[in-house]
Amino acid sequence: MDKPRVVLGVSGGIAAYKACELLRRFTESGHDVRVVPTASALRFVGAATFSALSGNPVATEVWDDVHQVPHVRIGQHADLVVVAPATADMLAKAAHGLADDLLTNTLLTARCPVVFAPAMHTEMWEHPATQENVATLRRRGAVVIEPAVGRLTGVDTGKGRLPDPGEIFEVCRRVLARGVQEPDLRGRHLVVSAGGTREPLDPVRFLGNRSSGKQGYALARTAAARGARVTLVAANTGLPDPAGVDVVRVGTAVQLREAVLKAAADADAVVMAAAVADFRPAAYATGKIKKKDDKEPDPVVLVRNPDVLAEVSAERARAGQVIVGFAAETDDVLANGRAKLARKGCDLLVVNEVGERKTFGSEENEAVVLGADGSETPVPYGPKEALADTVWDLVVARLD
Ligand code: CTP
Repeated sequence: MDKPRVVLGVSGGIAAYKACELLRRFTESGHDVRVVPTASALRFVGAATFSALSGNPVATEVWDDVHQVPHVRIGQHADLVVVAPATADMLAKAAHGLADDLLTNTLLTARCPVVFAPAMHTEMWEHPATQENVATLRRRGAVVIEPAVGRLTGVDTGKGRLPDPGEIFEVCRRVLARGVQEPDLRGRHLVVSAGGTREPLDPVRFLGNRSSGKQGYALARTAAARGARVTLVAANTGLPDPAGVDVVRVGTAVQLREAVLKAAADADAVVMAAAVADFRPAAYATGKIKKKDDKEPDPVVLVRNPDVLAEVSAERARAGQVIVGFAAETDDVLANGRAKLARKGCDLLVVNEVGERKTFGSEENEAVVLGADGSETPVPYGPKEALADTVWDLVVARLD
């Protein structure tokens, strides 16, 4: 099979150096990449770097290799065009159909999906001109990833950072596999919890669990790809922020509860994928607990944590809000799942059987989604994103 052909457009922003990492991800996973930088991009990163990393020649102007008609051919032959970083100027040119260099020509001739990953200062991103250009591009079917919030060039902080290259790659991989998706979650606010809580014993020790957060991140990523506004409440994950998702970081079950309840106030659905500790130490030692040579250790006394899933299910912040829980079970998976669904009062419960290669830390998952209406949807062993999409399909059906 031919390698998927990707055009990586790079426009002139300081984040251009991050395009090298994105390029490496594509080539290492078997894509044929043609890098098309703008003249300004080449002031940040040299053509030699793009050429060496892609294994392909790099051209900027329509006047290079004219006999090959590159200004038409490159776009025509692409399976995907991704522009990362996309500056405010590049978005404006693309929205208005200007074509004064090889990249803008390529954008006009491409008939494949196009992804833009904008990066700029907050003021430029928020300017009505940029926002209108983004809306125009989206209306025409382009995927424009929301910039991340964080440190910008210089001392500034705000919205406008290029998302993590690994996460831009995930967006592109998904678009290549499925095309540009129907934004069936547009206009919805969805809350997803992910990861595992840590309940501190003293400043250096905690009670925790092995949840990686990958299933929750897959839920957040797929919801964003389907057009939703997503708040991801992440407990101790260490994973890069999914592109276009608002991430709220928490540590303990009590902090997670607070963040989930706050975000749930105007949410259409809440998905509790986090592994929340049922108990926490009754006391927190402000100094490190020392061993005393001649004495047995003190027992750790635990108290119950709030059950966030039961609470959001009982006190729906909005009429028609859909609540989804997760359960990891080792025995009597379906019977225990049904009982848990009833006990928690949620609409859907994703039941995993905990096993060797399944669930913790892996990229794959297998589950049955139980519905309060008695439905049962088996999801075969496969990527966590496939399970995430099934969950959103079931949520969409209930929201409608
Ligand atoms: N959960 C929660 N708050 C807690 C514990 C769990 O919101 N304090 C949520 C999890 O996010 C998950 C679901 O509840 O969506 C299932 O959690 P689980 O710990 O399996 O449920 P329990 O009722 O504690 O059942 P078990 O006795 O099997 O631990």
